[in-house]
Amino acid sequence: MSSCLDAARPETAQAGTSRFRPAIHFTARDTWLNDPNGLVFYDGLYHLFFQNNPYGNVWGNMSWGHATSRDLLHWTEQPVAIACDETEEIFSGSVVVDHGNTSGFGTADAPALVAIYTSAYKAASEHSGTQAQSLAYSTDAGTTWLKYEGNPVLTRNSANFRDPKVFRYQGDQGACWVMVAVEAQHQKVVFYRSEDLNSWDFLSDFGPANADAGEWECPDLFPLAVDGDPDNIKWVLIVNVNPGAVAGGSGGQYFVGEFDGVRFVPDAGSLAAPAGVTSISDSVAAAAALKECLWLDWGRDCYASVSFSNAPDDRRIIIGWMNNWDYANELPTAPWRSAMTLPREVTLTAVNGSPRLVQQPVLADLCAGEDLPTAKDQMNADTFELRNTALRLPDSVPGSAQIIEAEIVPGSAESFSFLLFGSSDGSKGTILSYNTTSAQLILDRRQSGNTGFHEKFASDEPAPIVLDGGVLRLHIVVDHCSVEVFAQGGKVVLTDLIFPETENPENWLSAEGGSATILKLAVSTLT
Ligand code: FRU
Repeated sequence: MSSCLDAARPETAQAGTSRFRPAIHFTARDTWLNDPNGLVFYDGLYHLFFQNNPYGNVWGNMSWGHATSRDLLHWTEQPVAIACDETEEIFSGSVVVDHGNTSGFGTADAPALVAIYTSAYKAASEHSGTQAQSLAYSTDAGTTWLKYEGNPVLTRNSANFRDPKVFRYQGDQGACWVMVAVEAQHQKVVFYRSEDLNSWDFLSDFGPANADAGEWECPDLFPLAVDGDPDNIKWVLIVNVNPGAVAGGSGGQYFVGEFDGVRFVPDAGSLAAPAGVTSISDSVAAAAALKECLWLDWGRDCYASVSFSNAPDDRRIIIGWMNNWDYANELPTAPWRSAMTLPREVTLTAVNGSPRLVQQPVLADLCAGEDLPTAKDQMNADTFELRNTALRLPDSVPGSAQIIEAEIVPGSAESFSFLLFGSSDGSKGTILSYNTTSAQLILDRRQSGNTGFHEKFASDEPAPIVLDGGVLRLHIVVDHCSVEVFAQGGKVVLTDLIFPETENPENWLSAEGGSATILKLAVSTLT
């Protein structure tokens, strides 16, 4: 297959940028990546395919890169799986294990892995100007891939029909394949069904709804039991939106509702007030409505999150692209650019009667292999009071991610803050603070280090918090160029990239304007 080289491979790294390379997040060795694609578990291995420019570190030449892992934290990059050519770029999509050999690509005993991806057709193609869905398959457990000669298998003659996520649906009438994809510029999710992955019938569409100011991309649909109750199954529809997310630019929203094999119907409780912006006062209303949407993440850098197929024990694990199209091509790293978020296990729990997603970082418990990563304790403190003072925590350690777990009762404090990758005078660093009056958790990267590479990068992101019996619970993962915050057991998540200065490895916890009680404070490293 011919390649589509139109960007030079970067030859040298910018001095010093290798220190931003994360310890437990996937990055391509020396190229660009965006969306996670084709997440699938098969034969003891997690496969992560991803939007990749094999020839450079900016977006272009879109192909599916490939990496594998046994523990979801340490990845081995594999050769490019599905390469662009002179007729098409390979946009986002999914992979299924065709257990019943419905496609005929494998055998009943040795199922094929089938990739359903978007062909973004180029000028040299007879389908030029359209995006349509195509297949590629692997009969050697994901090592090599062949494009299907009957491609594309589904077209709408549309320029923005993309990002198919396919799953096996089991209904009263039997099982079939269901595809969720988008008409990106119409803010619509479109649903199709198939018996054999090859021939597809239209079922229905959904949208626009909730955050609809930008293109809708990378959808996913899956069932989850609310609070583990098998008699209370709800369907979660993830819809990524760019721009127009709550923190600006790209972000992921979700809806909770019913899916009957044909149509997705959202619960009333997952719909925000309709926007309809026609005046300044309406735009205030629209900004308020945006906060009422259900967000996967309140930070700037979690996009295109989709879930694994075929995960062990029916667990639902998502990975997002830890970036934002606002500045993605300009991140100050080389030769690699961009990382994935940590894998996050998602479950549903009822909050005031409405099911809401809860996300927990997968930091060890799902390991399928022998080489379990072990966290090393740096600090483990019992209950103490913090009053108008700052406590120094262990410094960040080069080569390791740092995990901070805390449970804090705000007490009389007006606010309390973690300073991460900070300077000793506190003037530099990323600040994660809780403000008692506004009941907001705020991730502030305005003094986090290098923010000048793009005017939209310096930012602070607030997220609303409901204390849990008066307690704020935080699980923070800091990994060289990122901060991921899982608050209240994962009901609220904030993810931001940061590019700290080498001379600022200090971490601090402080309480301002009164006294806070620290019930738990544990700091550990993971390599
Ligand atoms: C989302 C996206 C997808 C598309 C891919 C192209 O980030 O725009 O809609 O398939 O990236 O790289």
